[in-house]
Amino acid sequence: MTQRRVTILGATGSIGRNALKVMAHAPGRFTLEALTAQENVEALAAAALAARPKLAVIGNPAHFAALKQALSGSGIAPAAGEDALLEAARRPVDVTVAAIVGIAGLKPTLAAIEHGGIIALANKECLVAAGELVMRAAAQHGARLIPVDSEHSAIFQVLDAAHPGWVKTVTLTASGGPFREWPLERMRQATPEQAVCHPNWAMGPKISVDSATLMNKGLELIEAQHLFALAPETLAVLIHPESIVHSLVAYCDGSVLAQASVPDMCTPLAYALAWPERMDAPVKPLDLAAVGGLTFSHPDEARFPALKLARQAMAAGGALPAVLNAANEVAVRAFLQGYIGFLDIVKTVEKTLDQADNKPLHGLEDVLAADGAARAFALKKTSAEAREDVSGLKPLLRKFASH
Ligand SMILES: NC(=O)c1ccc[n+]([C@@H]2O[C@H](COP(=O)([O-])OP(=O)(O)OC[C@H]3O[C@@H](n4cnc5c(N)ncnc54)[C@H](OP(=O)(O)O)[C@@H]3O)[C@@H](O)[C@H]2O)c1
Repeated sequence: MTQRRVTILGATGSIGRNALKVMAHAPGRFTLEALTAQENVEALAAAALAARPKLAVIGNPAHFAALKQALSGSGIAPAAGEDALLEAARRPVDVTVAAIVGIAGLKPTLAAIEHGGIIALANKECLVAAGELVMRAAAQHGARLIPVDSEHSAIFQVLDAAHPGWVKTVTLTASGGPFREWPLERMRQATPEQAVCHPNWAMGPKISVDSATLMNKGLELIEAQHLFALAPETLAVLIHPESIVHSLVAYCDGSVLAQASVPDMCTPLAYALAWPERMDAPVKPLDLAAVGGLTFSHPDEARFPALKLARQAMAAGGALPAVLNAANEVAVRAFLQGYIGFLDIVKTVEKTLDQADNKPLHGLEDVLAADGAARAFALKKTSAEAREDVSGLKPLLRKFASH
């Protein structure tokens, strides 16, 4: 493989750090153009000093002086603010790792698409909120979206995209999260610490909570719909607590092709960074005999209603997936900050969807308007619920809410 130039958007997060780990495992194969973060200036400076990009960008301009100081004499250019982040994303590279969390990743991902390289896409929220816009932009600029989500990486590897008529179903697996077997009454009391403690994956706080509500799987259904141009009724979900089989594609002749690996994001990241080739990744080999058994079951949509809501938004299309995503982002943050209970997350999303005006989305402005309106409603809802709580506000859990 010829040497590749890489930018990592969201370099201080769980995906960003794993991408750096995969690249460090293959000395000489990659060079770094830019690393970005939003608040965590110490981690950004440390990553930049270790990995030596040309440019390091911190989104919050208040941290510029600290970044400049930390990088002085290193030859790495410091920059700050939203425009600098977009400028970094626009610099031509072979691969951009899109690893910002939430809708905040939409504009930087669109900016990276403009240079027409490979986008190693982790930021699923941008496809959920603006799937048609992102896919259209990628086609227009000749950018290749290579999924980093383990399920979509699996589908990408086993789907015969040239023959969509042969595909019967595409099944995404879900671990079921930390509350897979908890009754509803126990889930009502679930704390942020319990929700972010995922049994198989070490991930950022937002996706960890999404995995606990199963909203993550709902978002992934919408992500798969756009990435692979699949009809909603083709898409299914199975609970698979071992997280070994990442997705399955069933064909008309009865064959089912699946991709399996240990649950470690370095595998899909290595796949996306090296695509269309393959590279060594810093992961343990899969030992199926040691795993012993693989189990699968249907999700319990009564205890995990997020899946149904995501399916409804996916089927309705238009602004509703953006509304679902925005309300979920607000509600997850409110939960992590201790303002609402665990079950209130999905209730907030449902109430926000119920009142939303489903308009068609013609461009970025429409997406941002739908996102903004849903966000404002969900914010009002979550703080109103907190005020109704006679025990008062729970202590802020800034440790988890900071991302
Ligand atoms: N973690 C996983 O294993 C995993 C698996 C599959 C898919 N994904 C997806 O990958 C994305 C990243 O997840 P993660 O778990 O890596 O998240 P994370 O650990 O919370 O990291 C998020 C990254 O985005 C940056 N960021 C946050 N807000 C930003 C903003 N407003 N503008 C610019 N940058 C911002 C953060 O910078 P600071 O550190 O400075 O705040 C950090 O670098 C998500 O969309 C998630 O669904 C993650």
